[in-house]
Amino acid sequence: MMGHRIRRARPADYDAVIGVIDDWWGRAVVHNLPRMFLDHFHRTSLIASDEHGISGFLVGFGSPSDPDTAYIHFVAVRPDARKAGLGRSLYDDFFAIMRAEGRKVVSAITSPSNYTSIDFHRSLGFAVAGPVADYNGPGRAVIVFSRGV
Ligand SMILES: CC(C)(COP(=O)(O)OP(=O)(O)OC[C@H]1O[C@@H](n2cnc3c(N)ncnc32)[C@H](O)[C@@H]1OP(=O)(O)O)[C@@H](O)C(=O)NCCC(=O)NCCS
Repeated sequence: MMGHRIRRARPADYDAVIGVIDDWWGRAVVHNLPRMFLDHFHRTSLIASDEHGISGFLVGFGSPSDPDTAYIHFVAVRPDARKAGLGRSLYDDFFAIMRAEGRKVVSAITSPSNYTSIDFHRSLGFAVAGPVADYNGPGRAVIVFSRGV
């Protein structure tokens, strides 16, 4: 990926991430990323940056309960850096980390209205299932993605 450096996250990255997240998403999503994700899953999360600062991030982890499975909780690329392969690079680096841990499957979810996320995951070879009704409680359907690492 030309011009972008990807590294493992650190807990202190939380403040930079949370400061841009609503702007990059185009709506309020700050409540979906409490600080505990960076405090406890920074080792398997990734930060991309370029000469303008943070350009993307991925928050993910290997399941502590299922040794085969990894989960991507959050991903975003700075609006001016999109459609140039950075999201794919973040996923590729996460897959490599998870492959090295012996993980077999990566999963993620999104809301049924997030067509960008659905197209993005389909392009990356994820199987797309759903909407799964009541997945996160009554009336809260989600789309479920899964892919081998
Ligand atoms: C989703 C997101 C991370 C993609 O990042 P990106 O760097 O633009 O993605 P890439 O350039 O690596 O694209 C990878 C593939 O996804 C596809 N894709 C990316 N954005 C797309 C869009 N808006 N519509 C359709 N396809 C898209 C690309 O065409 C590409 O496929 P290809 O390689 O077969 O051409 C970015 O759009 C984003 O941050 N969106 C807002 C936050 C969000 O919705 N996150 C997803 C939550 S699960």
